[in-house]
Amino acid sequence: MTINAAIIGCGNISRFHLSGLEHAKVPVRWTCDLNPASAEAAARRCGATAITDWRRAIDDPAVGLIMVTTITPAHRDICLAAIARGKAVVCEKTLADSAETAWEITAAAQAAGTPFWTNYMKRYLPCVEKARELMPEIGPLIATHARTWQLWGDLWTKHPAEGFCHTPQDGTSGVKRNMGGAALHCCGSHIVDLVLHLIGRPYRVFADEHIPPGRDYDLRLSAVMQTRDRGSVLFEACAHALPHLGMSRDGWDEHIEINGVFGRLTIFTPTWDQGDRIGSLLVHEDGRTRTRTEHRFAPVSPFDLAVGHYVAWAERGVQGGQAVTTGYEADELIACLQRSARSGVAVEPAWRC
Ligand SMILES: NC(=O)c1ccc[n+]([C@@H]2O[C@H](COP(=O)([O-])OP(=O)(O)OC[C@H]3O[C@@H](n4cnc5c(N)ncnc54)[C@H](O)[C@@H]3O)[C@@H](O)[C@H]2O)c1
Repeated sequence: MTINAAIIGCGNISRFHLSGLEHAKVPVRWTCDLNPASAEAAARRCGATAITDWRRAIDDPAVGLIMVTTITPAHRDICLAAIARGKAVVCEKTLADSAETAWEITAAAQAAGTPFWTNYMKRYLPCVEKARELMPEIGPLIATHARTWQLWGDLWTKHPAEGFCHTPQDGTSGVKRNMGGAALHCCGSHIVDLVLHLIGRPYRVFADEHIPPGRDYDLRLSAVMQTRDRGSVLFEACAHALPHLGMSRDGWDEHIEINGVFGRLTIFTPTWDQGDRIGSLLVHEDGRTRTRTEHRFAPVSPFDLAVGHYVAWAERGVQGGQAVTTGYEADELIACLQRSARSGVAVEPAWRC
């Protein structure tokens, strides 16, 4: 069955969703944004009708799939309304601005039985899928190191006077308002999700973060996440200023090193918006055969891959490819990491499912 889609939120990220829908050959009936010019620009690209009130798209019986690409605080009302109308929903990460709200949305989707995905699209990168396939080869897990350093220029010694990363006096920065935070929410949430995807849920976390004076967002969050039987995960999300770091020497330094009794897997992933330009890499070191194998993957947009999966499942009307709880789990873990960093004590997540 061919499904029709609507996109709600036509800002920065929406072009990747439009591309994914184009690749999947899914007609888009509505593009919606509070800013009519943004909705119209997106509509011109895909032949949709531009609107400013998302309720029109959700009320359209011909629409089966709603892509929620607004800023994070706006996700809740749109997701709940779309679920109540029985639509399949793809919501951008992070799912919500609190674990409570993420759970409210997830529980609604579970109760309604409607397919629901949070767009942690790095799960669909071939290097991640290959790592999952090779995990049994490395045996029982001992320790994981997960790093995501994102080149944001020098926010450490300079407080920008304007723009996304400016925190006005008695006001909120763009990065906090739109995404919930900086290092942990922007780049860190993908790696939080990959830790959950590859290693599983930690039972205890102990974190530490850096928020510069006068700002409302973090530049770094470091943590130890302890699992019951899969070792500890050392985690670090950081907005940094050094352009010559990382796999492509482009300042993007994101990798996950998973150590087992019999070997090591190291995943190197490209910047969230550069996957179709920069390939990914998985290194498999096998302690038993004493071999080191590099699996190099050609550039491919993780958005196209992810949206292709969502569409295939949505057309069948079933949840598939990832659990409905994916976005909630990341938000719960993010909340625990922040709680630990701000209280100075270890926190045990109280998983709600
Ligand atoms: N997957 C990733 O790697 C990734 C990367 C960047 C951003 N994101 C996520 O994507 C989402 C959007 O981020 P962005 O960078 O595109 O932000 P953006 O500010 O560029 O775009 C958001 C758009 O949503 C619109 N909007 C806000 N409230 C609305 C409402 N009630 N109805 C209709 N439109 C509304 C705004 O007018 C704006 O055009 C956020 O949740 C963010 O965390 C994900």
